[in-house]
Amino acid sequence: MMYLAKHYNTADRKSFRTATRLYAGKNARLDLGQILSAAPVLLVTDTRFADSDAAKGLQVVGRVEVNSEPRLDQFETEVAKLPASRPQAVVAIGGGSAIDMAKALHAFLSFGRHDVRDQERPAGAPGLIAVPTTAGSGSETSRFFILSDRSGTKLSHRAWSFAPDVAILDPIFLQQAGAERVLLGMFDAFVHLWETYICRNEQSSFVDMLCLESFPHIAMAVRVLAEGGDLSEQMLSALQRSSAYGGMAIANVRTGFIHTLGESLAAHVSISHPESLYVFFDTVLDHYAPALAEKIDRVNRRFAAEIPGGYTVARMRQDWGRAFERHGVTARIKRALSSTRPDIDGLLETVARDKVLPRENPVFLEASDIRHIAASAFESFAPRAVRNLVP
Ligand SMILES: [Fe+2]
Repeated sequence: MMYLAKHYNTADRKSFRTATRLYAGKNARLDLGQILSAAPVLLVTDTRFADSDAAKGLQVVGRVEVNSEPRLDQFETEVAKLPASRPQAVVAIGGGSAIDMAKALHAFLSFGRHDVRDQERPAGAPGLIAVPTTAGSGSETSRFFILSDRSGTKLSHRAWSFAPDVAILDPIFLQQAGAERVLLGMFDAFVHLWETYICRNEQSSFVDMLCLESFPHIAMAVRVLAEGGDLSEQMLSALQRSSAYGGMAIANVRTGFIHTLGESLAAHVSISHPESLYVFFDTVLDHYAPALAEKIDRVNRRFAAEIPGGYTVARMRQDWGRAFERHGVTARIKRALSSTRPDIDGLLETVARDKVLPRENPVFLEASDIRHIAASAFESFAPRAVRNLVP
């Protein structure tokens, strides 16, 4: 199976893999104890969910609390405190950071180190269960986790062993999350699905199903948030599924232009991951939209079937803008860019390291295109904020 472990889709060879069973529904979190029976578990939670009733009935033999993006130093501290007897499962209750820390600790328990790449899970390794309290990162189903090193550089780790065995999706967590957090998460999930949908070769019809199922749910939710409304429990459940599908989708490809630019920017400017994506979203779409007419039309037909009132991708883009304005996201991005003044050369250097991007972007990318796109994006958010805009 080594060949398949390294396989990525080409124009004429398509595969799709997911390792995660989804278990979803109202109060699904309360079944966690039954699912794990009396197995001894290492429990990793966001600090605010440390006393979650989802953990009731678990036989907890070790606890880890996470209150910021996972860092290597915290990981090493937690490794030193791991229980002497190996837990049978690692359980994460929290957002993407808690799930990523759980994945890193699970990797250590499975391999004796966290920085393995493309490894299958060895026999006897503990199970891994994610109970996401946010929707967006897709960490609950993806084969990635991010750990920052001592310099603050975010390092992405990849192996199917890191994909949770089960993701438990309970809408109660999103009901407690607040509109802004839900909005940012659903944008991240949308970009995961979108960037997979528009890949040139690594795309597949398997992933298209997940995308075309999720896009209308996300669109209806963004429309509600753009108007200042509240999301129903049904909508929140659909967003949780969309996040999980987004994690499955990105686990089957290697790149996405918006993510590559956004991650590079977030290394220089203090903004959240979804905010960093939004900086480039419109300019990147403008750049390749003409080459995607057929794919965009397919989404528009799906919207027409699911959303009353003639909804389109163009309308959705406007609604993202209105929702981000309304919830203060746009203003925060402008402040962050203006106060940090990122260096575009540093940004482009990181982007240039992505060797898959030129092959998978819908249109061929020259270095000058990337500079132009990044410059246009910055200019629309914070003119004069960026150094070296002109080469
Ligand atoms: Fe993302």
